[in-house]
Amino acid sequence: MGRSQVIVNNNISSTEIVLTEDGSGFENPGLPPHTPRLSDLDAGHAKSRERQVVLLLVMSIVGAIAGVVGFFLFPAGVDQAGIRLGNTVLGVGLGLSMLGIGLAAVHWAKTLMNDHEVSEERHPVVSPEETRAGAVAELEAGMADANIARRPVLKGAVLTAAALAPLPVLVPLVGGLTEEWDVNVFKRTAWGNIPEGEDGRLLATDPENRPIRAADVTNGSVFHVIPHDLGTLPGEEKFLNEKAKAIVLLVRMDPSEIKNVSEGREDWSYHGILAFSKVCTHVGCPVALYEQNTKHLLCPCHQSTFD
Ligand code: FES
Repeated sequence: MGRSQVIVNNNISSTEIVLTEDGSGFENPGLPPHTPRLSDLDAGHAKSRERQVVLLLVMSIVGAIAGVVGFFLFPAGVDQAGIRLGNTVLGVGLGLSMLGIGLAAVHWAKTLMNDHEVSEERHPVVSPEETRAGAVAELEAGMADANIARRPVLKGAVLTAAALAPLPVLVPLVGGLTEEWDVNVFKRTAWGNIPEGEDGRLLATDPENRPIRAADVTNGSVFHVIPHDLGTLPGEEKFLNEKAKAIVLLVRMDPSEIKNVSEGREDWSYHGILAFSKVCTHVGCPVALYEQNTKHLLCPCHQSTFD
């Protein structure tokens, strides 16, 4: 027998593929004939597909602009509703912007780009120089095939959408662009914001804003405290932001049980009363659990333990 044969035997119980013994494989059946799309044959149809792609890119552009405008219209830190609204507008804007570009790319590829199938032989991992040069040439041919040079409106829409899409992410990340994104605000808390003529800031229970006395903190008790009248002094307009940074856990234990005190901090407790920032040193969750027997503070987010 001159060449191998493949015998496909279909019967009710099984499909069997049999190769002949000379091992020379079987003939490559090749690719099915190319079927032109409507947009390949009809210029008017292609034009309407192009308009649809542009429309999707316009949706992306509008989404990106809406996200940036929303960021400035609903600044973070005013109140919870404002934060929610700002995040929603930013998220929807970014989502529309990415969705528009994604849908436009798919629609463009399916309707306007050259859809001739090509097969490529496997190559060694590192291609020779001439192959790489060929790849660059193919890439350039692909760019030409995308028919973008002849479609200035589409080209403009693609470039504009691609340029604006990252803005909803980048604008909030540019520190110091607005007051809300001034990174210096993270370097201080309201505890250092002392009212004029006073020595320090009163501690108040959260959320009642009731000043707390040392005698209220009995042995073994735990209180969540914030600076008294937080939000009323200049520089504390963003109440929730200030509270998130200044929230403190107040506990009291027998002074003899206070161990491993760092040098220079020996007088940081008052008759066994200790104040711990609730901001977890891992990634900032509120450390809200106090284990009275072991005197451990527990963070519920990733189970960090502080002693
Ligand atoms: S944020 Fe506290 S353990 Fe991760």
